[in-house]
Amino acid sequence: MAPALAPALALLQQRFVLGIVLLATAGTVVSQEVQAENVTVVEGGTAEISCHLHQYDGSIVVIQNPVRQTLFFNGTRALKDTRFQLVEFTQKVVKIHLSDAKLEDEGGYFCQLYTEDTHHQIATLTVIVPPDNPLVEVKEQAVEGGEIELTCISPRTRPAATLRWYRDRKELKGFTSKQENGKTFSITNSIRFSVDRKDDRDIVTCEASHPALKGQKKQTQYELDVQFSPTANIQPSQSLVREGDELNLKCEVTGNPRPTEIIWTRLNDSLPERAQIQGDVLSFPSLSLQDNGTYSCQVSNKHGRSSDQYVLVVYDPGAIIEAQTQVPYAVIGGILALLVFLVICILIVMVWCSVRQKGSYLTHEASGLDEHGEAREAFLNGGENHKRKEEFFI
Ligand SMILES: *[C@@H]1O[C@H](CO)[C@@H](O)[C@H](O)[C@H]1NC(C)=O
Ligand SMILES: *[C@@H]1O[C@H](CO)[C@@H](O)[C@H](O)[C@H]1NC(C)=O
Ligand SMILES: *[C@@H]1O[C@H](CO)[C@@H](O)[C@H](O)[C@H]1NC(C)=O
Ligand SMILES: *[C@@H]1O[C@H](CO)[C@@H](O)[C@H](O)[C@H]1NC(C)=O
Repeated sequence: MAPALAPALALLQQRFVLGIVLLATAGTVVSQEVQAENVTVVEGGTAEISCHLHQYDGSIVVIQNPVRQTLFFNGTRALKDTRFQLVEFTQKVVKIHLSDAKLEDEGGYFCQLYTEDTHHQIATLTVIVPPDNPLVEVKEQAVEGGEIELTCISPRTRPAATLRWYRDRKELKGFTSKQENGKTFSITNSIRFSVDRKDDRDIVTCEASHPALKGQKKQTQYELDVQFSPTANIQPSQSLVREGDELNLKCEVTGNPRPTEIIWTRLNDSLPERAQIQGDVLSFPSLSLQDNGTYSCQVSNKHGRSSDQYVLVVYDPGAIIEAQTQVPYAVIGGILALLVFLVICILIVMVWCSVRQKGSYLTHEASGLDEHGEAREAFLNGGENHKRKEEFFI
């Protein structure tokens, strides 16, 4: 008796080799051998079950299923399950295929050689169930300031899949549970965290890993749905308007659920007849002075309400220049101040230069005091004295 080892093919890297030596007829020692290997198949897939023969002498080869029903009797079908097909029967190998493998097909398949002594080997078939994309369930509607509870579910795997939660590529530790349903496992992973309005529409991902996926992952992304009270903000298409201009006031709205209705009003007055409401926009195709007023847009959802106001001042076309200067007043003021400062500086420099020049003219020394008076006058009266001074000095 000598065990023989040979490399064997298996679907998922399982190698199982067994050899036996059979004592054959007529007193001579014939080394006859059958080898079976363990096989793993994904549910629904096709399993290949092989019995390797060595020094086969024409004995009857029988293949049986785990409940010991004969599938093939020396190459002839015995069981009417057409999912089993004999694909090869040579001196070296008997090979059958099982298509659409089911969990019930699991177990030991017998390869038997009927000689004087009956010997068999068992190929163990394992059916595995990889996960689909996991399911995500939310316990109840999340509202800002509250908490959200998300459950990731992989309802049927074998062996049990591993579920993980991620947000921004960081893992969120959850609570995992495992339930056995016959041969498969139902896995859940629940997370719970507090949420704010900024979390609305953020993405969290649940990822299932499983040996049958060979390193790949099955992912399900979930967009957080966090309800919050609305906000309203009026944006005018232009800030300065005069009679005849077109103006659109847009009420920018947030909120979850998003407010469906925007209520436009004018304080202490009715909306002008010419104003039109189109969606979130109140539009004035041609403004008139009578459109002056404080306009308000108001929105609400079940979590609260919000409104914004806009004071509309319609200028008549003549007043527009005066009005426009109001806005950049600080800028213009600044520029003016700078200009005045520069003029003063130039004047001081000029006066200083003229005094030095004056000093070099010995003939004019006597009138020095007058000169200084002139300079001071020039300083106080501004640039107009400039010319006069030059003439005076030359
Ligand atoms: C084949 O499967 C059987 C039954 O599960 C197990 O006892 C045996 O160790 C397996 N052999 C190999 C090589 O995995
Ligand atoms: C069994 O089948 C093989 C292959 O077809 C054949 O060579 C052998 O003679 C058969 N044995 C018997 C006992 O019928
Ligand atoms: C609206 O009327 C109220 C009372 O009549 C008054 O106090 C308020 O100032 C008015 N508002 C505007 C924008 O005219
Ligand atoms: C609208 O407001 C402007 C600026 O306050 C004012 O000059 C004009 O008379 C107002 N028109 C009406 C109709 O109230």
